[in-house]
Amino acid sequence: MTLNTFKLAVLVSGRGSNLQAIIDSIEKEELDADISIVISNTKDAMALSRAERHNIKTTFINPADYLSKRAFDTALIEKLKEYPIDLICLAGYMRILGEEVIQTFKEKIINIHPSLLPAFPGLNSQKQAIEYGVKFSGCTVHFVDSGIDSGPIISQTVVPIYDNDDEKSLSERILEQEHHLYPKAIKMVKENQIKINDRTVTHKTR
Ligand code: GRF
Repeated sequence: MTLNTFKLAVLVSGRGSNLQAIIDSIEKEELDADISIVISNTKDAMALSRAERHNIKTTFINPADYLSKRAFDTALIEKLKEYPIDLICLAGYMRILGEEVIQTFKEKIINIHPSLLPAFPGLNSQKQAIEYGVKFSGCTVHFVDSGIDSGPIISQTVVPIYDNDDEKSLSERILEQEHHLYPKAIKMVKENQIKINDRTVTHKTR
């Protein structure tokens, strides 16, 4: 690990399998980065124990300790500023970031979402896809803006939907692809391979 390694903060709320994929990719030296801090808004998130197992620093910020969403966001910003951070990765983080957070870390926050955006933003995307009857869904890594899953798209993977799929089977198939896509997208940002032009992201090396 060098001093100028690309520094990540990962924001989580739950299971943390995408966090694990990022950790694994760093440990396998596929991704030259370092996680400075994992922040959770839920106390018992499995993601926290995953991070601790790899000696990564973790913090729980309890929303119940703050009178308003804004006060919580201010605390989150202060916490993030305590660490060297090049990129903030949302990995199953279930709170919507306020404008202040987005402006403070402009173009430095990315998220992974289990659908081919702009289709099926928000919650239960896999269920939405099955109910709509689409034949393909997938996952998307995108920059975070003030909308819901609406920021410029960095990369996507297409996943087929079969006739006998239910929400669980589709979620598993998509999740497997998320774990490949997210570390690769982080690497693209890290290696400065992409350029944001307003709404679109172009890939310099393609
Ligand atoms: C993933 O499906 C991700 O796309 C979505 O939330 C889920 C988080 O799963 N934003 P995990 O906590 O990374 O296992």
